[in-house]
Amino acid sequence: MMWTASLCLLGVSSILSAPVNKQRQKLLLISFDGFRWDYDRDVDTPNLDKMAKDGVKALYVTPPYLTITSPTHFTLLTGRYIENHGVIHNMWFNTTTKAKKPYYQTQFVNEWWDNGTLPIWITAQRQGLKAGSLHFPGTASSYQGQVAMVREVEPSLYNYKNETLWKKNTDKVMGWFKHEDLDFVSMYFGEPDGTGHKYGPDSPERKKMVEQVDRAVGYIRESVELHSLTDHLNIIITADHGMSTVYRNGLVEEITLNKIPGFSFSDVAFHLLDYGPSGMLLPKPDRLEKVYSALKGAHPHLHVYKKEDMPERLRFAKNDRILPIVLWADPGYVINGYFPVQFNKGEHGYDNDDMDMKPFFRAVGPAFHKNLEVGPFETVNVYPLMCHILGIQPEVNDGHLNATKHMLITSNASQGKKINLAENAFIGIAAIAGFLVVQ
Ligand SMILES: *[C@@H]1O[C@H](CO)[C@@H](O)[C@H](O)[C@H]1NC(C)=O
Ligand SMILES: *[C@@H]1O[C@H](CO)[C@@H](O)[C@H](O)[C@H]1NC(C)=O
Ligand SMILES: *[C@@H]1O[C@H](CO)[C@@H](O)[C@H](O)[C@H]1NC(C)=O
Ligand SMILES: *[C@@H]1O[C@H](CO)[C@@H](O)[C@H](O)[C@H]1NC(C)=O
Ligand SMILES: *[C@@H]1O[C@H](CO)[C@@H](O)[C@H](O)[C@H]1NC(C)=O
Ligand SMILES: [Zn+2]
Repeated sequence: MMWTASLCLLGVSSILSAPVNKQRQKLLLISFDGFRWDYDRDVDTPNLDKMAKDGVKALYVTPPYLTITSPTHFTLLTGRYIENHGVIHNMWFNTTTKAKKPYYQTQFVNEWWDNGTLPIWITAQRQGLKAGSLHFPGTASSYQGQVAMVREVEPSLYNYKNETLWKKNTDKVMGWFKHEDLDFVSMYFGEPDGTGHKYGPDSPERKKMVEQVDRAVGYIRESVELHSLTDHLNIIITADHGMSTVYRNGLVEEITLNKIPGFSFSDVAFHLLDYGPSGMLLPKPDRLEKVYSALKGAHPHLHVYKKEDMPERLRFAKNDRILPIVLWADPGYVINGYFPVQFNKGEHGYDNDDMDMKPFFRAVGPAFHKNLEVGPFETVNVYPLMCHILGIQPEVNDGHLNATKHMLITSNASQGKKINLAENAFIGIAAIAGFLVVQ
C-alpha cells in the first residue's frame, strides 16, 4: 500500500513537471512583417477571407511603442512592453564606444536580447514542451544559455520576397510539427515590410505583395491539412507594426536636426538618428537643457521629450537603455541628423496610437471560435493567449488573457492536458486518501 501510494505520487509529480499528452494542442505563430491591419481592404485575399470564416479576425491590434521590428516581435514572444523587456531598438549600441550594430548583426548579440525576460520558446521547453523558430526575430540569440530546440536563422543576404522559399520554409515547419512533434513554432516572413518601405503602402507593388502573402496563407493551410495537423494545430497570424506613407519631393519641410537653430552635434555624446521617424540623443554632461530647449518646438511635426517626461501611454521610458532625450515625428515625416539620407516611401516607428501602425490579427484552429470578428487589443496580450493554448505557466508579463479569451471556444483551450492533469491529481490524491484510511 505504501508502495502504491508513492508510485501514484511520483505519477502526479511527473505529470506536473513534464506533461506528456498526445491530445495537447499545438501552436504556430506567424508574423508577416509590416502587414498593416487594412491591407486586405484593397486587395482580393481569398485565403485570408477563408481563414477569417474558419476562425477569428480582429479589427486590428495595437503594437507597443517603439513600432519597429525587433522590439515589437520580442513583445509578441514575451508579453512585455518594450521598456520592460529591454530590446528597445533594432540596433545594439554602446554609448561609450559609440559602436552600433545594424538589425541583422544585432540578432546575434545575446546580451542585447537576453536582458531578463524569457521568450516563450524557453518557457515552453522548461515546462516539457518542444519549441522551434524559423527566422523569427530573437531566434539567433540565447536566453540564460538556452535556445529554441529547433531553429533556423536566415543568412545575412536573404531574399525575403522569394515565394519558392516561402513554400520551402512552410514545408520545413510542418515537418517539425509532424515528424519532430514540436508543440510551438514561431515563423517569420520579411514581407510586406520590404515592399511597403520601398514603394509605399499605397503602391501597386504593395498590393501585389499582399496577394503573395495571401497565397502563402493558402499554402500554409493546405499544408496543415496534408500533414493531418488540422485537429491539433492552432495558427495565429499577425505582424509587428504597420506602415505609413512618407511625404516627399519638397511637399513638406524635412526634419533635419543640424538645421535647427541652437542645436549642435557638438553638444551630443551619442545619437541614434536617421532611422525613420524616431531618434534618441545622449547629450554631453551639462548639455541636456541646452539640447532639449533647442529642439523642443523647433519643428511642428517633431516631438521632443526628456525621458522622464515621456507620455506614460507609450511605455517607453523606464529602461536604462533608453537615452535621456527621445524624439519622434508625426506620420509623413522622418528624422534626419546632419542632412536628409532617408529615401523610403513608407516608414514605421510612429506613435502606436496612429492607425497606420496597427497590424492585422487572424487565428484559426481547434482552440478558436469560427467566423468571429473581435475588437482591437494590444499585442502584449498575444503571449498569455499562446501560453494558455499550450497549457504552460506564463512568465511575468504585461498582458492578460481577459483581452483575448472571448476568441477561445472555452477558456480551457488545452482541455486535454488540464483535465487529464486534474484527473490524475485526483487519482493520486484518492490513492493517498485510501492509503491513509487503510492505515
Ligand atoms: C560599453 O563599452 C564599454 C567600453 O568597452 C564597456 O566598459 C561597457 O560595459 C559597455 N557597455 C555596455 C552597456 O555594453
Ligand atoms: C540589461 O542590460 C543592461 C545594459 O544594457 C545591464 O546593465 C543590465 O544588467 C541588464 N539586465 C539583465 C537582467 O540582463
Ligand atoms: C528563389 O529560391 C529558389 C529556391 O532556392 C531559387 O531556385 C530561385 O532562383 C530563387 N528566385 C529568386 C528570384 O531569387
Ligand atoms: C479579468 O477578468 C476578471 C473577471 O471579469 C476580473 O475579475 C479581473 O480583474 C480581470 N483582470 C484584468 C487584468 O483585467
Ligand atoms: C474550465 O475548467 C474548469 C474545471 O474543469 C471549469 O470549472 C470551468 O468552468 C471551465 N471554464 C470554462 C470557461 O469552460
Ligand atoms: Zn518590421
